[in-house]
Formats: sequence, C-alpha cells, structure tokens
Amino acid sequence: MERIKELHKQKLSEFNIQRDSINKLWNINEQTAQLLYMLIKTKQPKNILEIGTSNGYSTFWMSLASEQLGVIIDTIEVDEARFKLAQKNLTGRKNIILYFGKAEQIIPKLNKKYDFVFIDANKVDYINYAKLILKKLNDKAIIVADNVISHKESLQEYLDYTKSNSAFESMLLDIDSGLEISVYKIQ
Ligand SMILES: C[S@@+](CC[C@H](N)C(=O)[O-])C[C@H]1O[C@@H](n2cnc3c(N)ncnc32)[C@H](O)[C@@H]1O
Repeated sequence: MERIKELHKQKLSEFNIQRDSINKLWNINEQTAQLLYMLIKTKQPKNILEIGTSNGYSTFWMSLASEQLGVIIDTIEVDEARFKLAQKNLTGRKNIILYFGKAEQIIPKLNKKYDFVFIDANKVDYINYAKLILKKLNDKAIIVADNVISHKESLQEYLDYTKSNSAFESMLLDIDSGLEISVYKIQ
C-alpha cells in the first residue's frame, strides 16, 4: 500500500487538504479506503456502484484498485457542489462515470449488473437503495455499507433486511464508522 500512496501522493494530499478545509465532505478514513482497495483487488469485479460520491475520495481509491481491470465505477452524488468537486478531483481517471442526482432516481436507469457496491449516502435510505439494487446484483456480489455503527438507529431497517434475507451473508467490521460487508447469493 505504501507504493500506491507514494505514486498518488499529490492527489491524496489534495484530498486531505479538502477534508480539512471544507465542511461536510464526510470522507471515509484511510483505513476504510484501503480496505475497499483490497476487497476490489481481491474480488476483481466487472462493474462497481457507489452511492454517495461526495468529493470523490472513496471513488478515487476504488478507481486505483480497478483501473487495470477494465472495470467501470458508476458513482452517484446528489449535492451539486460536492458533485462538481468530484468531477474536478477525478479528472483524468478513465474508469469512473459520475452521476448527478438522487440515487433513487438514477439506479433504476442503470442497465448493468454489479459485483461490488459501496453504500455511503443518506442513512435512512440504505434500505431503499438495497431494494433498488437487488435485481442488479451478480451472484456473489459484495456490498459494503458504511456508518453501520455511527448511525446504527437510522440504518436499523437495512441491517434487519440483510439479516433476515437469506440471500445475504453479512459481517460487521468495527473500523471507522462501522462497516457491514455482505455477500449476495442468487437463490
Ligand atoms: C458520507 S458522504 C460520501 C463520502 C464518500 N463516499 C467518501 O468517502 O469520499 C455521503 C454523500 O451522499 C450524498 N447523498 C445523500 N443522499 C443521496 C442520494 N439520495 N443520492 C445520491 N447521493 C446522496 C451526500 O450529498 C453526501 O455527499
């Protein structure tokens, strides 16, 4: 990981400066970013979906992990200022498609199947995102949901859903804001 960080030192330092100087970017921390990187490197998904781009920090790390694989990352952001910042920050990255708007409206229009989904948007709506992406998941797709500890109450419906649906096998990881990692199995 040190080699990757060294290679992208300047961009990562720009992200750090933004995180410290702009309110409400809500970026994942570096440990979570590196975990996404490792999961993607291992899983080698064909298509990735991210719900909640913010200024593109997590997208950048996922792009680093997948650029050599011919993978496309579809990422959705509803806030215009953060969307524009992400566009700027991710200029030159060739495997990212940025969508501006509400995930609930955009997801139904994406005619693709995903092997890896990162959910990091409006906490009470995780359950709605999950229901929308269900038919767009490939067998053995991985879903990573952020904030499952920091926003446990808002996310409870989502957590109950993955727990009660036998298509999902999930584990909770107590790092950063808490991650739930689920594997989806077509039944
Ligand atoms: C926690 S931040 C994402 C941080 C980003 N994943 C990162 O680590 O760099 C959540 C983002 O989701 C966006 N968001 C909230 N509700 C949304 C929705 N319904 N559709 C798309 N984006 C949404 C917010 O505007 C916010 O920028």
